[in-house]
Amino acid sequence: MKFFIDTANLDQIKEAEDLGVLDGVTTNPSLMAKEGITGEENILNHYKKICEIVEGDVSAEVIATDYEGMVKQGEELAALNPQIVVKLPLIEDGIKACKYFTDKGIKTNVTLVFSVGQALLAAKAGATYVSPFLGRLDDISTDGMNLIEEIRTVYDNYGFKTQILAASVRNTMHIVNCAKLGSDVMTGPLSAIKGLLKHPLTDIGLAKFLADYAKGNA
Ligand code: G3P
Repeated sequence: MKFFIDTANLDQIKEAEDLGVLDGVTTNPSLMAKEGITGEENILNHYKKICEIVEGDVSAEVIATDYEGMVKQGEELAALNPQIVVKLPLIEDGIKACKYFTDKGIKTNVTLVFSVGQALLAAKAGATYVSPFLGRLDDISTDGMNLIEEIRTVYDNYGFKTQILAASVRNTMHIVNCAKLGSDVMTGPLSAIKGLLKHPLTDIGLAKFLADYAKGNA
């Protein structure tokens, strides 16, 4: 299972990279704005900086919502670095643009996916990744994890190569449950990734080991 971090914050990306378990980064326009990155040139430069920190795939989202605009912006993004994955919204022109980039051998991440039918379309268009937003489904009393499970079943039924990238991950249990269901990737905040470290028995056990060592070596 690949671990992506869902942020445009360079310090957090570095921290996750230093942990040694990071496989890539996802961003979106909201996350870029949160870091105060505005203006086309600054945004493109920020993606370059992210690519310098990590070795894996870096999803960069288009702003255009029409086919021509998405193709133009996606090509600009893809030209920045081979690590860039063009992130496209699951709308009609986004699916067309996905097929365009698939045919050109450029990696894509189809985002804002909330149903199995949408995920099926993304796979048919050859998306590298599909991003079901499980946290946002949980937010409206709908089981986001169920969507991951259903997409897994449908993709396995037909051997689709599109990787399920569980997005809108909010906590450690989202990560663990995605792993149980066979999600190929998860993207979440640093807090959720580091939350996996925590167990009180680990801390208690370590304290006892160190205390016993100290007694024996006093
Ligand atoms: O990867 C998609 C993600 O950024 C959305 O997360 O927490 O805003 O629903 P959230």
